[in-house]
Amino acid sequence: MPLFDVYPLYNVTPVSGKDMYVYDENCTEYLDLYGGHAVISIGHAHPNYVDAITTQVKTLGFYSNAIQNPIQEALANKLEALSGCAGYQLFLCNSGAEANENALKLASFKTGKSRVIAFKNSFHGRTSAAVAATDNPGIVAPINAQQQVTFLELNDILGVKKELEKGDVCAVIVEFIQGVGGLDQGTTDFFEQVYALCKLNHTMFIADEVQSGYGRSGKFFAFQHYNVTPDIISIAKGMGNGFPIGGILIHPDIEAKYGLLGTTFGGNHLACAAGLAVLNTIEDEHLMDNANQMADYFVSVAKTIPQIKNIKGRGLMLGLEFDFEVGDLRKKLIYEHHIFTGGASNKKLLRILPPLTIKKQHIDTFFDALKSSLETN
Ligand SMILES: Cc1ncc(COP(=O)(O)O)c(C=O)c1O
Repeated sequence: MPLFDVYPLYNVTPVSGKDMYVYDENCTEYLDLYGGHAVISIGHAHPNYVDAITTQVKTLGFYSNAIQNPIQEALANKLEALSGCAGYQLFLCNSGAEANENALKLASFKTGKSRVIAFKNSFHGRTSAAVAATDNPGIVAPINAQQQVTFLELNDILGVKKELEKGDVCAVIVEFIQGVGGLDQGTTDFFEQVYALCKLNHTMFIADEVQSGYGRSGKFFAFQHYNVTPDIISIAKGMGNGFPIGGILIHPDIEAKYGLLGTTFGGNHLACAAGLAVLNTIEDEHLMDNANQMADYFVSVAKTIPQIKNIKGRGLMLGLEFDFEVGDLRKKLIYEHHIFTGGASNKKLLRILPPLTIKKQHIDTFFDALKSSLETN
């Protein structure tokens, strides 16, 4: 049976990984500055993570959400402590799209309203409401078009005010650093005013931290760079270091009711063991401090390269903008220098999303390769 051919593939076959590197079937080493799309937070095959999953799968890999599961509670408590989101409640699911789907659904349940405000160039996933809130008509099927979503420009505060005052908006969903769109950010003033307008108009303020969360921005959540308190925070990617797990953090003001949300696989024992190992490692290895230090170093070197016209993003969620499309540059980096980087909707942007364990030597290797690739570009 052929695979449904939806992904353009690089001709590389990683078969193993260790911290910042993956290795192909010939043992060729690749430096991973893409983190499998911002997923690898604590490094490939981290020993604590491998041990936790191995022990758990040998003991009890799965049971449904109909029983007591102390690992879910341990994960929720650790997440509360590390994120500083005191009093929030946790609902667990399996992916980023599912997290946003539940976030939007909960916002609609809570407010009794159905229209969503999202922003131009946003990406929130591919399920029904999440894809409708994604600014890419090419991936929105007619069946998703029933959702009512209004897209506004980032920083268009008058537009947000006008739409919210109509009284029918259940949620504003925000990526504090846009991922797939190309690392754009609203201003501090904009985000804080949107939050205030949400409060005034009985609208839920949703922070999509699927990509920017779990320390990637240098704080646990990217919204924590601003003075806002989201009603719902969606998480996935770095949460499981590759194990499929997602979730939403729900403000204490939102009351749970039996049956309101649900899932078969979400919060299973194995996923929670993986998630807990990730949080413990972020704490024990001070990976948020490392993210900040390495981001400063990365940006300081990037500033010395004249071909880089703009450095976007924050922490270890960075974009290097050139005045040419970077497709060929990415190919050179991967095939000639064995370095993975990411692309974006903005074709002139090279995305850098490494594991949070990155060190100066990896950054130096990257910039040596980049300089040499730019010479021959
Ligand atoms: C900000 C953001 N939200 C949601 C998603 C969807 O996550 P998933 O692919 O796990 O469904 C992504 C994926 O790239 C993302 O970057």
